[in-house]
Amino acid sequence: MQSVGNSRLVNHRQIARTRARYDRQANTYDFSSGIMDRLGAARWRRKLWAQAQGPRVLETGVGTGANFPYYPPHVPVTAIDLSPRLLERARLRAIREKVLVDLKVMDAQGLGFPDNTFDIVAATWVFCSVPDPVLGLMEAHRVLRPGGRLLLLEHVRAEGVLGVVMELFNPIMVRISGANMNRRTVDNVRRAGFRTIKVKPLARGLVRFIVAVADKGVAVHEANGSLEMAKED
Ligand SMILES: C[S@@+](CC[C@H](N)C(=O)[O-])C[C@H]1O[C@@H](n2cnc3c(N)ncnc32)[C@H](O)[C@@H]1O
Repeated sequence: MQSVGNSRLVNHRQIARTRARYDRQANTYDFSSGIMDRLGAARWRRKLWAQAQGPRVLETGVGTGANFPYYPPHVPVTAIDLSPRLLERARLRAIREKVLVDLKVMDAQGLGFPDNTFDIVAATWVFCSVPDPVLGLMEAHRVLRPGGRLLLLEHVRAEGVLGVVMELFNPIMVRISGANMNRRTVDNVRRAGFRTIKVKPLARGLVRFIVAVADKGVAVHEANGSLEMAKED
């Protein structure tokens, strides 16, 4: 365990486990995520990236580059991931599709960028698998400029009986896929220091589109005024 910029601890064993789980999926990830995209997730990706005008954009947990088709044109994106094998696939895809992206192996829980570097930090289906999601979200907050935005698509723990079932099956799902089914990501965003947060429930509330502003002294009404959310699922 090693301490980083803030007082929370990075657990290296958990990082290694998460990396191994995603490295293992390098040959199958595009197939399984392609199914989800065809079932509707592609539409949500497009809506999220329509709000990522930059100019300085970070994608956290880029995986194999499933978001490349939706990147804003002519905006160079920096993208990081824990898994070198997924990143290698992203690298090949970026060349094939001529995408302007700077890819780096990096842990979302300890970003190697100075404070206030980015206008946008975006992530899709990532904070379900970052070992310490609050630490990762605190890092996103740190690297966002004052008034910069966090854009997230995340599946979250359901309420009621389904939530209990998710808790029961979570250990198996984590082993198989690396993703936790029981994360309360909106709460985690708040715990990481974001104060202005808008949430759009999708897929009967199982998925959330989250837009959060790194207030950092910026007048909240000003930030609120320019927040846009998707109008439909
Ligand atoms: C379910 S995949 C999503 C990939 C991609 N964002 C997408 O929409 O298809 C989760 C991704 O998060 C990455 N990840 C998990 N923990 C991470 C961490 N601590 N730092 C950086 N990336 C991480 C995994 O390697 C994997 O690429």
